[in-house]
Amino acid sequence: MSSKPRTIDLFVPGRLCLFGEHSDWAGTNKAMNAEIVPGCAIVTGIEQGIYGTAQKGEHFIVKSTLPEYNGEMFECEMDMAKLKCAARNGGFFSYVAGVASYMCEWYHVGGIELTITGMDLPMKSGLSSSAAICVMVARAFNMLYDLHLNTMGIMNIAYWGEQRTPSRCGRLDQACAFGVNPVSMIFDGNEIDVDRITVKKPLHYVFADLMAGKDTVRILADLNSAYPFPRNEADRTLHEALGKDNVSITDRAKKYISEGDSEKLGALMIEAQELFDKKVAPMSPEELKSPVLHSVLNDEKIKSLTYGGKGVGSQGDGTVQFLAKDEETQKELIDYLENVKKMTAFPLTLKPKKAIRKAIIPVAGFGTRLYPETRGVKKEFCPVVDKDGLLKPGILVLLEELEKAEIEEICLILNREEQAYYEDFFFKPLPESHYSKLSDSMREYEKKIGRISKKLTFIYQDEQKGFGHAVYQAKDFAAGESVLLLLGDTIYSSNSEIPCTVQLIDAYEKYGLSVVGVQTVPLEKTGNFGIFAGVWEDKEETVLKLTRIEEKPSSTLAREYLNVPSRKSSENYYGAFGAYVITEEIFDRLHQAIDENITNAKGEIELTDALSYVSENHGMYAYVVDGTSYDLGNPESYRNAVASFGL
Ligand code: UTP
Repeated sequence: MSSKPRTIDLFVPGRLCLFGEHSDWAGTNKAMNAEIVPGCAIVTGIEQGIYGTAQKGEHFIVKSTLPEYNGEMFECEMDMAKLKCAARNGGFFSYVAGVASYMCEWYHVGGIELTITGMDLPMKSGLSSSAAICVMVARAFNMLYDLHLNTMGIMNIAYWGEQRTPSRCGRLDQACAFGVNPVSMIFDGNEIDVDRITVKKPLHYVFADLMAGKDTVRILADLNSAYPFPRNEADRTLHEALGKDNVSITDRAKKYISEGDSEKLGALMIEAQELFDKKVAPMSPEELKSPVLHSVLNDEKIKSLTYGGKGVGSQGDGTVQFLAKDEETQKELIDYLENVKKMTAFPLTLKPKKAIRKAIIPVAGFGTRLYPETRGVKKEFCPVVDKDGLLKPGILVLLEELEKAEIEEICLILNREEQAYYEDFFFKPLPESHYSKLSDSMREYEKKIGRISKKLTFIYQDEQKGFGHAVYQAKDFAAGESVLLLLGDTIYSSNSEIPCTVQLIDAYEKYGLSVVGVQTVPLEKTGNFGIFAGVWEDKEETVLKLTRIEEKPSSTLAREYLNVPSRKSSENYYGAFGAYVITEEIFDRLHQAIDENITNAKGEIELTDALSYVSENHGMYAYVVDGTSYDLGNPESYRNAVASFGL
């Protein structure tokens, strides 16, 4: 079968260290001196970076369409020794050769053809373009050869690849593997640990090239002379600054970023710079006097526009960063730095992943499996006894869950014939004669139904062309926002204080891509579920970066391709929990599937196809929900829900 080779699109940002510079190499010294405190840095990807495309090939080829490459390219057989040699020889292509030699040595891969199509990294120093290109090569191999590496895995390969070249990058450079999102990195001897930080409120940074000079090699040599064992008081002071003082600063930085407290974060930048000037700069007095840096940090006009500022990277007169007060002052500051100070300045806005405000619940299906009940009663109205002792239609249990998740707008996707049914239930007041019979707690619940009803919008699915088709009807309701998607016939019970949908929304805020809620299912039941396989992204093994999605696979297929081993068990299958956070790309793919009639064997537009497509092309996560989902949609599971739910 001859088909066009698969081409993937790649983007890797540059990175900016917000706090904790120099503590990466200092912490690495713990391998030799156990008394050293581990390093910690807060690093973020920036909006600028490197763009590329890649496909499988016979050899390892890197070329570019950019004029600055002058048509130069690198081509080498996938031969470890030859690639290693190219890496050792230095020069621009040594980085990519270093990573390819590492892949060749440790993984069963063929070649790739990588084309660099764009590069808008503004400055040569402080933003680490070499780490970005190394991450890009590692990611291309991972995607094209299905190596199932998580982000940490890619980051490590990029690092070890670059170590094979004469250039030496620090360990914090590869934070760019985590995208435009701040992470905290711990450097403990040879160990490294990375944690994502959830941004709660927009942070309007500006960074600028000071247009002066600094000698990074000299700075590093001066500071390194105090390691691994301090020789005198000055050395001990440096150890303290990069050790326990730094931990105190980075701990607070994490807290302020995740609380959205820009003012305290800005003040912390000023504190960090003062600490640096007092305890670190004396070790390299010539290079770290940094007159240009200090002149802008003390500029009254700049102070009025910002909450704080500090140096970047190895410090010296290289690059400066500021936290502007808002979007307006961010623009004003850039203008001032460029036109008055004659520097090149760039904005960096760290945004919270848009909070989830909307939910959609398709309920238009007939419910064949609950026939003959569904001749008269919608399956979403089949009752269960809730924890509060009230007998409730399943849909109300679900809508209460959305109240807990502070969802503001809810769209029910209905079959048009059911309009009156739903309107009666949610909008028609109880006749006074009935209301008067209710107990106080029941009257309270009536108020709750009233509150929930205010959030409801009805949308109609005129032809029942499947779950994916139903979801697509809510595209205009979502209006570009990421939304929570729940099944109308599934209810949830959390094992903790945190409702299941809130757990899912938290995972979305942390990882920023579509997230599917999953639960373990026994092998013999994989045929009843959408099954999701991937690699663990976090240490706790709650989040999977997805690599494969199959709708109702046989147990043979599941055993062969969909097992996800964990520390607890060597055999796990993860099935849909019935709750998702979906991004705009899912609606785009559903649109395409409807246009091109991409259906399953029953002629239905499937959500699973869209999930699969988006997972392959944009990335997607699964989150193992700490809770139980109860399917009300077939007699056997309904019996179980009635017996167990609410206990
Ligand atoms: P199901 O897959 O359970 O389909 O739908 P169904 O038609 O309701 O039930 P069976 O399989 O015939 O017994 C999952 C969810 O998607 C909705 C259903 O109402 C349910 O909440 N759905 C399904 C739609 O809204 N439209 C459809 O065309 C299909």
